[in-house]
Amino acid sequence: APRVFSGIQPSGGLTLGNYLGALKRFVETQENGVETIYCMVDLHAITVWQDPERLRHATRELCAGFIASGIDPERSVLFNQSQVAEHAQLAWIFNCVARMGWMKRMTQFKDKAGKNAENASLGLFGYPALMAADILVYHATHVPVGEDQKQHIELTRDIATKFNHDYGVDFFPITEPVIEGAATRVMSLRDGSKKMSKSDPSDASRINMTDDADAIAQKFRKAKTDPEPLPSEAAGLAERPEARNLVNIYAALSDQSVDAVLAEMGGKQFSEFKPILTEMAVEKLTPISTEMARLMQEPDEIDAILRRGAERARAIASPILERTYEIVGMVR
Ligand code: TYM
Repeated sequence: APRVFSGIQPSGGLTLGNYLGALKRFVETQENGVETIYCMVDLHAITVWQDPERLRHATRELCAGFIASGIDPERSVLFNQSQVAEHAQLAWIFNCVARMGWMKRMTQFKDKAGKNAENASLGLFGYPALMAADILVYHATHVPVGEDQKQHIELTRDIATKFNHDYGVDFFPITEPVIEGAATRVMSLRDGSKKMSKSDPSDASRINMTDDADAIAQKFRKAKTDPEPLPSEAAGLAERPEARNLVNIYAALSDQSVDAVLAEMGGKQFSEFKPILTEMAVEKLTPISTEMARLMQEPDEIDAILRRGAERARAIASPILERTYEIVGMVR
């Protein structure tokens, strides 16, 4: 049976990119009746320094974001990574399977480490091995993610393949990335060549899930565009990254294909389209931010949900880790 796992870092607030590329699709997957396991990857977050109080707050707020978006902590397993030690334990084994050369090729490491890679944490370098452990400690078969995580999932497949080969077993599944929908790569509102990201220094570059209607309106009003009207076919967006981004966002928010959106909006100027986009975004996002704020009034309840989720997660992960230790030759 398929089993879905995915994770989000509590390394800042949630963005519209996280919502459309990941969270919204997590909810759809849950609604399809598949077994779903969703994780706040706090161990990944500290690969770059996090203020402890902010990390705790961001983890709770992320949990509130999952629930407000429609994740039901009864139907999905919802927890934070550090409460299930099996992730870090399997990651150690995978550190011994993965090769330095594989890690060096990871574009996220190169981006995050920047010019001074000697000064990056060892955790940042080993990040993808922990991510492989997140997925494989549940024998997850499918991982919904945005475009930017594709290379990490390929590395997860390489680790599973090498482990199975080195130990002569058919134990870890070869997990499939699921990168689908109109918004698998939401771009910055200020620069159509850059990903929308919680770490961009410009707040105007992104919609945060906590933004109110005024902030959303202002950010779309200021979003970079070109002077042409919208085309009536997708091919007309090819050389227009900013226009394409706004159309993709509208398509994903309104659950339509890009073709359907352009059939309706083709010929409109941005001065006309942006208010339509804003209205759609406010309609879809403000109920979520309102509910997030409400849930954040009860941090103890959030913590209880995460503890309960961690128990359920551990019940799945623990026997898989035990079996892994046996395969590797650890005395039990
Ligand atoms: P993170 O926390 O950066 O992002 C969480 C999810 O949001 C997606 N995403 C986007 N999608 C579309 N457009 C964007 N601009 C955008 N920005 C982010 C990401 O692709 C991701 O799906 N390494 C992961 C976290 C992780 C994980 C895992 C994911 C740790 N272990 C195991 C899946 C399975 C990360 O940094 O995601």
